[in-house]
Amino acid sequence: PHNVILYGAIAYFLGSIPFGLLLTAASGGGDIRKIGSGNIGATNVLRTGKKGIAAATLLLDALKGVLAVLLAAHLCPDHTAEAMAAAAFCAVLGHCFPIWLGFKGGKGVASGLGVIWALSWPVGLAASILWLAVARFSRISSAGALTAFLAAPLLMIAMVGSPPLASPFPIATLGISTIIWLRHYSNIIRLLNGTEPRVGQQKS
Ligand code: G3P
Repeated sequence: PHNVILYGAIAYFLGSIPFGLLLTAASGGGDIRKIGSGNIGATNVLRTGKKGIAAATLLLDALKGVLAVLLAAHLCPDHTAEAMAAAAFCAVLGHCFPIWLGFKGGKGVASGLGVIWALSWPVGLAASILWLAVARFSRISSAGALTAFLAAPLLMIAMVGSPPLASPFPIATLGISTIIWLRHYSNIIRLLNGTEPRVGQQKS
């Protein structure tokens, strides 16, 4: 059990690297937390007009999640599924609540997709397609994210089979989706009010 705490801690610290904040600052874009929605994720980096930096943020935030899960699998060959699931949850926790930023982090979409790809690539692929399709169709990033992470636990349950709630991957995915939905609280309110901005649109 103490091993799981170790992999969880490694995953948390990997997840807590705020690529959106670092890359925006490094490219002369200033503090991303003072721009648009104030979020440190790729969607908000896109509001700075720097498409390459936004794409790099998306990719690196996803890859840190992939790395956290693969590292846990590598380090823990005897309880692989439990270690991967714990790492997946902790990486997203680290992104959303990073110690470096006073626990005020991102919304967990890119890191969440990354860890799900690493847990089960078919579920990762399906969730990513859903996210892209809904975001593209609605032109609202958060709508895509909320749809993808509503579906992700169900897809993971379908993938892993029975008994779903006794297996680590669906439990971790359910936890990750819960964090992501909670972190999108203000987006949900804006979606309900019809005031959520479209992709790339400045938030006043
Ligand atoms: O990835 C986060 C996205 O779903 C919403 O971001 O900046 O519009 O709150 P933002």
